Amino acid sequence: MSTIEQLGDLDEIPDLGYAHRIRNVSERELHSVRRMGKTKRSERMRQENVAKQAAMLAQQITAQIDSQEVFDFAYQASRHERGWILDSLGGFYEQRWLDDVIRLVKGGKEANVYLCQTNESVKGLNQPYLAAKVYRPRLFRSLKNDHLYREGRVNLDEDGREITNDGMQHAMRKKTEYGRELLHTSWIEHEVKTLQILQQAGADVPRVFASGNNAILMSYIGDKDLAAPVLHSVRLNAQEARRHFERVLHNIELMLRNQRIHGDLSAFNILYWQGEITLIDFPQAIDPLVNRNAFPIFERDVIRVCEYFARQGVKSNLRRLANDIWKAHHLKEIPDVHPALLDASDVQDRCYWQRWVEKDG
Ligand SMILES: Nc1ncnc2c1ncn2[C@@H]1O[C@H](COP(=O)(O)OP(=O)(O)OP(=O)(O)O)[C@@H](O)[C@H]1O
Ligand SMILES: [Mg+2]
Repeated sequence: MSTIEQLGDLDEIPDLGYAHRIRNVSERELHSVRRMGKTKRSERMRQENVAKQAAMLAQQITAQIDSQEVFDFAYQASRHERGWILDSLGGFYEQRWLDDVIRLVKGGKEANVYLCQTNESVKGLNQPYLAAKVYRPRLFRSLKNDHLYREGRVNLDEDGREITNDGMQHAMRKKTEYGRELLHTSWIEHEVKTLQILQQAGADVPRVFASGNNAILMSYIGDKDLAAPVLHSVRLNAQEARRHFERVLHNIELMLRNQRIHGDLSAFNILYWQGEITLIDFPQAIDPLVNRNAFPIFERDVIRVCEYFARQGVKSNLRRLANDIWKAHHLKEIPDVHPALLDASDVQDRCYWQRWVEKDG
């Protein structure tokens, strides 16, 4: 029950209004009480007792509510951010997934990621920490090119189910405020669904534990003091570079086999920790069988990855590699694509997505 509902119950307690009155009783009223007859006085005393008890009960309930529902965390957030965290992660706290938000791992363009302390009850998962990705509420509202990724995609509701309701579909088509909220939720649910599918398929991705309220709770890569760095900031020796390059290609193929293309893959969305890689950040993942923009998006992913590894000494023929993998999976190249995707200068630019937002937003 929410705080407000519990306080609503307090109003039902008889004589609580009276408790308030006796606290503000005037001298004149007291005088008249003293002058009352014995029966009247004892009745008044009885009422006072009831009122006192009601006031005590009110105090107890308030204290209970405070200790139960106020999610107090160690991370020193600004007032605004605090509200945002409470809103998004309060549910996970109540469901006993986490005990604490320890610090901000990174504020990204789409979301903030926080390091959280796992609750005792889920210690069996062998995850002392969890990563909470909390989406920025308004980001996608200015994103015009989302249609490139949404092509052929069904929209998902907050439970990850396809939205079939006519009214909701109409709201999304018309991009009303409600429709934008639905689309925003759908992006998050697509990230959740993709992570779940890929995790089950054995890809190197974080495991999702819970989602909702604009946030995803997943396994955290790193330790208490240091989150895993992104591959872009790591220098690899030749042997390591070759091994990880092959592992990334393995993941790319695994994704294709599971009808997924990352859509924003680069050394900025691959974490490196204790000699292993983890692919992250999947809201824009697409299905190669339904999205007509699939090949250039796929090619861009492969090229970005190859370019990072080329700097680490692993040479490859970028475009041929993308073509070869694509054909090996019996996928057809469909020429009807958005011209922006063919702009080769975007390939190296990690702010590519951001620039689209600025250009079109
Ligand atoms: N599971 C995780 N464990 C540890 N760190 C993570 C995890 N997920 C994300 N991060 C960190 O948070 C950052 C942002 O996450 P993500 O890439 O999913 O969001 P984003 O908003 O797209 O960010 P960006 O704009 O940097 O791409 C990552 O670059 C990484 O440093
Ligand atoms: Mg990212």
